[in-house]
Amino acid sequence: MMKEIDPDKLPRHIAIIMDGNGRWAERHAMGRVLGHRKGAESVRVVVRTCRRIGISCLTLYAFSMENWLRPKAEVRALLQLLKDYLVNEVQEMMDQDIRLTAIGNLDSLGAPVLMKLRETIERTAGNQGMVLNLALSYGGRDEIATAAGRMVSDSLAGKIKPADVTKELCQRYLYTSALPDPDLLIRTGGEYRISNFLLWQMAYTEFYFTDILWPDFREPDLMEAIAEYQQRERRFGRTSEQLRRT
Ligand code: IPE
Ligand code: IPE
Ligand code: MG
Repeated sequence: MMKEIDPDKLPRHIAIIMDGNGRWAERHAMGRVLGHRKGAESVRVVVRTCRRIGISCLTLYAFSMENWLRPKAEVRALLQLLKDYLVNEVQEMMDQDIRLTAIGNLDSLGAPVLMKLRETIERTAGNQGMVLNLALSYGGRDEIATAAGRMVSDSLAGKIKPADVTKELCQRYLYTSALPDPDLLIRTGGEYRISNFLLWQMAYTEFYFTDILWPDFREPDLMEAIAEYQQRERRFGRTSEQLRRT
């Protein structure tokens, strides 16, 4: 049964830690890479569904900085899958008016992937239906350190001074400067951690964890997560009573 969701209370930005591909493959007596391939189907379903129901931004954690530590063959396969995804989905992005963006240490992805990525970003740049933001070779601490480095160099160049460094200014130096903070984080695969994802941006994000493995995650599961989000009271430090009065 599909959970009813309130179209007036949608999260503006959903972020997803797509975890559990390896365990899915193991359970089906397959190699990990097949789990990742199956996971790409969930990506397609979730992107299409988010677009249809009117989510403005979807960030997918596709490859973490730490994932470089995996066996070489798996890393290679993940990069290849990413490239295939870009090639296969660009037309769908155009048809669905979806704009692709990416965050992370993108240069480390290597020329073939990077070229495809840049090409897709450029080609979809005018689309306005939804932002699909891929976190690739992404690490939250790395993002913050990179931002700090850029602030120091702007300071040395005389563009900013210490008193200018507010949380709003810091935000503008992050990879996500153009995006609102995530309202809802979904993590599949049964782990209760954030694995270095969007550390700064998730200060007030609602967290939703599910045991479902990413390759099994489908539209009803997304609806369930959104329905649960819609039950939460986001107080941002205030009291319930204050919220009722506004
Ligand atoms: C998530 O699935 C995909 C990536 C991290 C790229 P995993 O590959 O982490 O799957 P598990 O956690 O081993 O099951
Ligand atoms: C987080 O999953 C990264 C992605 C989903 C891309 P991991 O499987 O890498 O996280 P850990 O290692 O279990 O924390
Ligand atoms: Mg994992």
